[in-house]
Amino acid sequence: MSKEEDKLLDHSYDGIQEFDNPMPTWWVGLFVLTIIWAVVYLFYFEFTGMGPTQLEEYHSELAAAEKLYGGGDNGDQAQIEIALMTSAEDIAEGEKIYKMNCASCHGQTGEGSIGPNLGDKFWKHGGDFKSIVNTITHGVPEKGMIAWEPILKTKKIVQVSSYIDQKFRNTNPPNGKAPEGEEYQGE
Ligand code: HEC
Repeated sequence: MSKEEDKLLDHSYDGIQEFDNPMPTWWVGLFVLTIIWAVVYLFYFEFTGMGPTQLEEYHSELAAAEKLYGGGDNGDQAQIEIALMTSAEDIAEGEKIYKMNCASCHGQTGEGSIGPNLGDKFWKHGGDFKSIVNTITHGVPEKGMIAWEPILKTKKIVQVSSYIDQKFRNTNPPNGKAPEGEEYQGE
């Protein structure tokens, strides 16, 4: 950049004089660009309505997600019946869900560690299928068992409950944790 001579302005107030120090050209250029940008922006988003608003973006993302994951939660949940699943696929799904989310506290074979034994006849919160689904859905947060509903949703909860019912119930796994709760006589 060439060195400019500072120009002394030709006025003087109470003996105080001023230099004329304009902003650098590149800076003024940027400033003008932002003004042009603002005008373009205003036309694109506000006056012509060509650009999507945040609300429109939100709705289109929501629609895309619904397409991808299939419908809203409530619609989805309502269609699932809380009943024991016995198909090999559902049990295999249940096993996957169990190993990933539950085995750390209830043991690989349901023998229990932080959480209770799931392979004995004793249940703290009821041993019938619906009670098991219910415990997993709502959890026992004050005892360290979270509510799984927000994470797994109904179908996966029914699958993992079916896995527990079919593969752990009354198997008395080795190194089992001492029984807790009431004996369940059914099934
Ligand atoms: C952070 C540890 C932890 C994890 C992870 C966990 N649980 Fe639990 N679970 C517990 C504890 C602790 C209890 C006992 C609550 C009580 O004392 O009332 C429990 C209780 C239960 C019960 C009730 C047992 C009974 O005797 O009535 C079931 C069923 C159960 N868990 C299933 C699951 C499933 C399925 C998962 C995975 C989706 C899971 N748990 C993940 C800690 C855990």
